[in-house]
Amino acid sequence: MSAQGLIEHARKFAKKAYELDKAKQYNEAIPLYLDAAEALMKAIKFERNPQVGKTLKKKAEMYIERAKDLKEIIEKKAEKGTETGSNEESDKLEGAISDIIVTEKPSVTLDDIAGLEEAKQNLREAIVLPLVRPDLFSGARRPWKGILLFGPPGCGKTLLAKATAAEVEATFFNVSAAAVISKWLGESEKLVHTLFKIAREKQPSIIFIDEVDALTGSRGGEHDAMRRVKTELLTSMDGLSSSAKDRLVVIGATNLPESIDGAFRRRFERRIYIKLPDFEARKAIFQLNVKGVDLASDVDFESLAEITEGYSGADIAMVCRDAIMTPIRELDLSGNIHDPNIKARPVTQKDFLESIQSVNPSVSADEIKKYEKWNEEFGSA
Ligand SMILES: Nc1ncnc2c1ncn2[C@@H]1O[C@H](COP(=O)(O)OP(=O)(O)OP(=O)(O)O)[C@@H](O)[C@H]1O
Ligand SMILES: [Mg+2]
Repeated sequence: MSAQGLIEHARKFAKKAYELDKAKQYNEAIPLYLDAAEALMKAIKFERNPQVGKTLKKKAEMYIERAKDLKEIIEKKAEKGTETGSNEESDKLEGAISDIIVTEKPSVTLDDIAGLEEAKQNLREAIVLPLVRPDLFSGARRPWKGILLFGPPGCGKTLLAKATAAEVEATFFNVSAAAVISKWLGESEKLVHTLFKIAREKQPSIIFIDEVDALTGSRGGEHDAMRRVKTELLTSMDGLSSSAKDRLVVIGATNLPESIDGAFRRRFERRIYIKLPDFEARKAIFQLNVKGVDLASDVDFESLAEITEGYSGADIAMVCRDAIMTPIRELDLSGNIHDPNIKARPVTQKDFLESIQSVNPSVSADEIKKYEKWNEEFGSA
């Protein structure tokens, strides 16, 4: 959405929130205020004029304040109404969790992921096998309860977690740490608690926490609400490793491993480096991303893979998307796009080479060094 679109969205939501607020429908008003605030916070990122940015920020803060006030009002009412109130609260939390349970199976499979053989095997041992043959994983051979996937952006962390979930009959909870914090403000710790409770009820379960650094970082530790969430998450993860029969595993993903503090690092017992794709993987990523497209005979994946050293999987996917569009673009520019008798020409090596020229690798060599260093120190190679 554009900045203008976001502001418009915020205005609409704030207006609705205000109406509900006036009608004393606080429960309904709160999420709308928060939505409006979130949209404004996003719009601020686009805003060049600091004065306008400030005004937007003030507005966003005002909405958040009002949402907090309303929450307090509701809580006070609930205290008076005892039982019914607390049920309502837990219903609300469980409702929020059901939003993040992915009931339909992720459609990616491990075959859609190029390379990363070691990581795949690790995940098999940690998740797939214990779920398929729990009898083999008892006593000292207990499965890993916490796994951290770390590495540069766009190299398949999210893809791997989804594909693993698709391999097994497990309930998959897809949690974005940033969303938990921004949507739930002071209540995040209750959300985390309920998440683990439901995951235990619905086991076998996989809890996937994307951008886990947002929740487990040492930065922001001053904030009271943040500290409570972290404590809750630590406690919940401890609960997992102490009970052998829970078939529940937490997968965290991050591209800022160094910002995860020690307490969490220890609870992610298995730490897997998801590196930039090597030559063979790059070749395979090219092939995966041109499936079903008509290619000229001069297309040579070996040489394309060779010259894209340093590119992430996402970079190569982008190169492919651009290259395979070239014939369509030409057809459109020549004014022939509406004639069904004129076919698009096959994609050539030159199309790929030009796209590679226009897409720069998104990860720098310095950043890679940083990941390698962290891997040497903390990774489970
Ligand atoms: N190993 C791979 N095999 C096939 N495709 C890949 C691979 N790595 C990345 N891709 C492509 O890049 C896209 C982004 O991958 P993914 O979302 O898994 O990255 P990520 O590591 O989670 O990145 P981020 O840290 O930014 O969240 C995928 O949708 C896919 O098209
Ligand atoms: Mg990701």
